[in-house]
Amino acid sequence: MRRSFRTAAILSLFTFAAIIYHPAEVIGAPPFGGPEDVKDSEQLWQALSDARLVGSQAISAMPYEGSVHKTILVTLDSTLGVGDHTGAVIVKKMYQGPDVSIQSVFDAPAKNLKIVAVMYQREKGYDPDNQDWLYVKYNPDGTPQMNKKGVFMAGRAAKCISCHQSAPGDDYIYSYDR
Ligand code: HEC
Repeated sequence: MRRSFRTAAILSLFTFAAIIYHPAEVIGAPPFGGPEDVKDSEQLWQALSDARLVGSQAISAMPYEGSVHKTILVTLDSTLGVGDHTGAVIVKKMYQGPDVSIQSVFDAPAKNLKIVAVMYQREKGYDPDNQDWLYVKYNPDGTPQMNKKGVFMAGRAAKCISCHQSAPGDDYIYSYDR
C-alpha cells in the first residue's frame, strides 16, 4: 500500500516535470509530424512531381551558391493545386558534397541532392497565426526527414516557422517579397 503510494507520487512527479520541461510540445505550439502531416506531405510530393517541380523529370533552374559553405541551391516557385486547393509553393533544393559546384548541379541535377525543402500555402485557417504555410523537409525520394527527436519535419513545423517568421516583408519568404 505504502509502496504503491510512493510509486504513484513519483510517477505524478515525473509527469509534472515532463510538462514543465516541454511546454511547447504539450501545450501551445501547433503539433506537426503526425500521420495527417505525413499524408499531406505525400500528397504534396505527388502534386510537385506532376508539376515537374521535383523528381527525375523536374524542370531545371539556375543553381546558385547558398549562404552555407559548400551548399548549392536551386529554388523554384509556382502555384500548385493539391486536392481542391490551389496555393503558392516554393521548392528549395539543397546540394552538398566535397566537389559540389554550380556546374556539377547544372550537369547532374540528381547528384549530391541532400534536401528538398518546401513551403506550400494552404487554405485560410490552416495556421492563421503564421500565414497558413505548410513546411516539409524531404529526402530526395520524397519521404519526409525526421528531426533529432525522431519527429517528421512535415506540417506546421515549429523550427521552420520560428526562422521564417523573421523574413523581411512579413510574408515568411526570405528570397523575395510578395
Ligand atoms: C535558421 C533559419 C531557418 C530555418 C530554421 C529554416 N529556414 Fe528556410 N530559409 C532560411 C533562409 C535565410 C532562406 C533564404 C536563403 C536561402 O535560401 O538559404 C530560406 C529559404 C527557404 C525556402 C525558399 C523560400 C524563401 O523563404 O526564400 C524554403 C522553401 C525554405 N527555406 C524551407 C524551409 C523549411 C521546410 C524549413 C524547416 C525544415 C526551413 N526552411 C527552416 C532560413 C531558415
